[in-house]
Amino acid sequence: MEIRNLINITDLSVEEINSLINTADDIVAHPEAYEDICRHKKLATLFFEPSTRTRLSFEAAMLELGGSVLGFSSANSSSAAKGESVSDTVRTVGCYADIIAMRHPKEGAPIVAARRAGVPIINAGDGGHFHPTQTLTDLLTIKRKFGRLNGLTIGLCGDLKFGRTVHSLIEAMLRYENIRFVLISPEELQVPDYIKESMDKAGVDWTETSSLDDAMPQLDVLYMTRIQKERFFNEEDYVRLKDSYILTPEKMRLAGENMIVMHPLPRVNEISVEVDDDPRACYFFQALCGKHIRMALILFLLGIKRQ
Ligand code: CP
Repeated sequence: MEIRNLINITDLSVEEINSLINTADDIVAHPEAYEDICRHKKLATLFFEPSTRTRLSFEAAMLELGGSVLGFSSANSSSAAKGESVSDTVRTVGCYADIIAMRHPKEGAPIVAARRAGVPIINAGDGGHFHPTQTLTDLLTIKRKFGRLNGLTIGLCGDLKFGRTVHSLIEAMLRYENIRFVLISPEELQVPDYIKESMDKAGVDWTETSSLDDAMPQLDVLYMTRIQKERFFNEEDYVRLKDSYILTPEKMRLAGENMIVMHPLPRVNEISVEVDDDPRACYFFQALCGKHIRMALILFLLGIKRQ
């Protein structure tokens, strides 16, 4: 069987994404049909950067499919700390596991890994580049909330420059119809030019603003993001920009009653905890969707189908 990897969301066709969403829904409807489907299969989670949701949802996903998990949760607890290359690490782990989910601070590291592993590689986030399984999570969340992935106005707010979840979500949504983006950020954290070029090429409608208040009434989805301290070269810039946007119950009053608030999490300050009780807040539901879609993805990449 040809080895399929997931490095960028565009590695999957729209039909394949729709099929993953259908499988995720089938898993919820018929959990008993999946509980032993990955028996004797092993997932390795190689996390060279911190994670809560991505690593643990991958591990929970494989365990709920009846498989096993192994791996490490920081570079310091692997031989990377002794200078081992990514290439040698994944070639070794490919001898122990059937599929690998890897997070690495260096952009492009999963591409190097995919050349050497001999088993499917899933990019669980590479630097400020891409985070395709977060995007699958986001698409499943939107589909479950709206029943569609077309005809939506999506506001992306916060760190749009370094935010890999934002870049991947835009890339994915460009392939659906009648999508409009409202990009809400300080000038210093606007989306990179190559993403703007992709939006122009796809012919989607997009606007940039620094005002969350102005954007709120227009949105079906508000996708909040954290200002990421770890991506800044300079502490002063981080301190100046970190509280650029804080979503509060007062701001929520500016939004429509059907708008949903998403966030890949972790959050720091950008959504006040009072918003959590608003029925439009769906970031913890989103984290649950992450487990379901990763279950579907593991099955897809291992070529396993429900009998
Ligand atoms: N959304 C996300 O990637 O969260 P973690 O960093 O906790 O994995």
